[in-house]
Amino acid sequence: MPKLTIYNPRGEKEAEGEVPEGLSLLEASLKLGAHHGSACGGVLACSTCHCWVKKGFESLNDMEDGESDYLDRAYDVKPYSRLGCQARVAGKDLVYQITEESENTWYDEHPKERKEAEAAGKWPPKK
Ligand code: FES
Repeated sequence: MPKLTIYNPRGEKEAEGEVPEGLSLLEASLKLGAHHGSACGGVLACSTCHCWVKKGFESLNDMEDGESDYLDRAYDVKPYSRLGCQARVAGKDLVYQITEESENTWYDEHPKERKEAEAAGKWPPKK
C-alpha cells in the first residue's frame, strides 16, 4: 500500500501511514487523523479541501474541469495544488501539505478541538 506523509500548514508532520489505493486524499487524511477540512463534505462544491502535493503529484488521477473550476476559488493555488476530495491515491507514495484554509475549516467543524488548540497556543497559527 502507498505510504502517505501529511504536513500541516506550519510545515510540521501531522500524520503518516499506509492507505489503500483508491481513497481520496481527504479520506486518507481523515483515516490517518490529519486535520483536513471539507466544508461541503467532499462533493466538489467548495475549495476547502485544498492541499499541496509535494511528492507523487504525477501519480494522481487527472484533474477534471469541475475540480479546476473550484480550485480557482482557493487561496494560494500552486502548480501542485489539488482538491483533497478529488485527487485519489494511486500506486505511489505521497507527501502533501494541508493548507491553512483547509485546517481552519476542520477546526470550524471541530469546535472542541479548536478550543483545546487555542488553549495550548497551537491555534491560530502565528504569522
Ligand atoms: S470538500 Fe468541498 S470540494 Fe472538496
